[in-house]
Amino acid sequence: MPDHVQPDPDADGAAEIRIPDVSDGLIDRSVYTDPALYRVELQRIFARAWNFMCHETQIPNAGDYFINYIGEDQVIVVRGEDGTVHVLMNTCRHRGNALCRAELGNTKAFVCSYHGWTYGLDGKLIGIPGKADFYRDRIDQADWGLVPAARVDHYKGFYFATLDPQAPSLFDYLGDVGRVGMESMLAYGDVVVLDGVQKNVIDCNWKIAVDNLFDWYHVKVSHNSASRVGFLNQAAMMPMTQMVMLGELGHAIGGPMVTREEQAKIDALSDEERLAIDRLPDAERPKVAPTLRRPLRSTATKAAMGPVGVRASGHPNIFPNLWISTRGMQMSLRLPRGPAATEIWWFTVMPKSFTPEQRRAAKKFIIHSFGPAGLLEQDDGENWSQSTMAGRGVASRRYPHNMQMAMGQDEVMVDATGQKAIETRVNEHAQRWTYRCWAEWLRARDWPELMQTRSPSPTGRV
Ligand code: FES
Ligand code: FE
Repeated sequence: MPDHVQPDPDADGAAEIRIPDVSDGLIDRSVYTDPALYRVELQRIFARAWNFMCHETQIPNAGDYFINYIGEDQVIVVRGEDGTVHVLMNTCRHRGNALCRAELGNTKAFVCSYHGWTYGLDGKLIGIPGKADFYRDRIDQADWGLVPAARVDHYKGFYFATLDPQAPSLFDYLGDVGRVGMESMLAYGDVVVLDGVQKNVIDCNWKIAVDNLFDWYHVKVSHNSASRVGFLNQAAMMPMTQMVMLGELGHAIGGPMVTREEQAKIDALSDEERLAIDRLPDAERPKVAPTLRRPLRSTATKAAMGPVGVRASGHPNIFPNLWISTRGMQMSLRLPRGPAATEIWWFTVMPKSFTPEQRRAAKKFIIHSFGPAGLLEQDDGENWSQSTMAGRGVASRRYPHNMQMAMGQDEVMVDATGQKAIETRVNEHAQRWTYRCWAEWLRARDWPELMQTRSPSPTGRV
């Protein structure tokens, strides 16, 4: 069995590339177009980070597998005979053929379609056709197993993997803000992730798809058609009551917030009263106060999210590319496919406690929101694509993107529990934070250096 992958920090010329200064909120367009920078992102961000793989309910039984990516490395996430979840490079050790072609399924072993090398669920090479006749028994099978991720772990059933053995634990990696983000999917208790991940490719840089998830400035304009047909309630977008949480290593949450006064009313509800409101049919929900139409977190979730996090009802991004959306019922990966292409995946996260009627309503809402057939991301995709392409021109690329909204004009509030947040109006704090952390990831040669040089979660004026 080979050792885990050991990323080589200088393999792609990281030492020679110029990493633009983004501290003034002006983003050099090369960050979206430069192929050399892109190679370093794969090496120093994706191969180093904890990447979301799948939820435990997607692979409940031994032999269940799901195909995902770490950057551009395709991996098989598979449950072994003993229940352990393995993450293995989906590339045969003989001549590199992809072993597994289906997106998900169940198997007893992985058989290569080229010459028939066969691997067990734990990645061990268990069969070589012609081992005695052609190799004359001069090959040690133990040396030629599938390459595993350095570490695999989960947060409450959500599995992640990293290729870097020096990465901190997943719990520490997520930190307070990342964990608040993950908890936002557990507002109604345990969840199941449904089969049928929606996938499509948009010709844009992956970071544009990421920074847009914090962007509540575009909603009124880009998604005007969705509100004109009555799908979006523009008034509910709350541009003047926004909260931003900035977490170390680039995790962030940005978007509407529940005010303290509103939260006090929610806190006065018992879990039973909360459940009764949650279960109201759509037609009756408008009769409930607007605050109570949002996900009403259970007592357990409130405790896990903390007094500030529980009021954040915007969009979390788990750095680098996992977006949690749609009241915690959709998750999206923005998978890099070259500097100017991003594969977008949409997972549906369904609370186990939902009644059949709630499930139907949630699915309908989800299908109409994001994903290739949704009303929202079609509008977004065109804009992201044009924003990326316009960075290619020799003249246009000299003019940076402006990400300066509200820079230096807001204050980070620190709660008695230590949780930090900015309470403000529509802004670009989380976008700037994302790019600042992105630059820190690229500059650091390895995890120890990144942990030493990363910005602490900001306090004071931002
Ligand atoms: Fe897989 Fe040859 S490439 S067995
Ligand atoms: Fe949008």
